[in-house]
Amino acid sequence: MQNRVDNGEGIESWKEVTLVYNAALRQVQTKMEILNDEFQHVHQYNPIEHIKARIKTPESIVKKLKRHGYESTIDNMVKHIKDIAGIRIICSFTSDIYRIAEMISEQKDIKVIGVKDYITYPKASGYKSYHMIITVPVYLSDRIVDTRVEIQIRTVAMDFWASLEHKIHYKFEGDAPDHIKSGLIECAKMVGDLDARMLALNEEILAISQSGQSDY
Ligand code: GTP
Ligand code: MG
Repeated sequence: MQNRVDNGEGIESWKEVTLVYNAALRQVQTKMEILNDEFQHVHQYNPIEHIKARIKTPESIVKKLKRHGYESTIDNMVKHIKDIAGIRIICSFTSDIYRIAEMISEQKDIKVIGVKDYITYPKASGYKSYHMIITVPVYLSDRIVDTRVEIQIRTVAMDFWASLEHKIHYKFEGDAPDHIKSGLIECAKMVGDLDARMLALNEEILAISQSGQSDY
């Protein structure tokens, strides 16, 4: 094995795209499960509620390439589409999000390419989530392919909001009536408040159990 590292430029067919990106997804998913298990072992609690992984469909890759003015070639896909492989990590509390992001960046074979913190800086729509683009090495028989994966980390409440907003966005083709848009922004504020209150309650519970005032 030559141990040649490449950034995916050698990928020649759609079959190879799915093979490499699927492998990358499986690796990231396993890494997250291991971190979650270790966290449970050390701190007696799971920061991760659940994980969803997906490969972008060829149709939506082609659509995105077109939108950005690129021809539909395998080269362009690998070069320009950063979310062919996507993984969504859902956790309970906002504090877990930053803890998970830090654990990911500390993994030696993971390279963080970019981060977008839509929790500190939510989108105008009200969207909140922590995004990371990373690469993970995929070991093939004759080379190592550093493969990009988009990681979205959010709370259960943020995920609830994002799935409804996505449905509405899709339904109205991005042009929802104003009262629905403002309803969503209002809900996003409620999600923010809910997350903050749940976090505060959880911290209170932790403080009580640590000070031995209770045995629950
Ligand atoms: P995309 O072309 O949509 O991938 O955007 P981008 O490459 O500029 O990245 P961005 O960080 O804006 O969005 C990446 C992904 O985050 C999207 O594909 C969605 O899954 C999610 N996302 C971003 N903004 C929103 C939003 O307003 N609502 C919902 N529901 N999801 C969003
Ligand atoms: Mg996307």
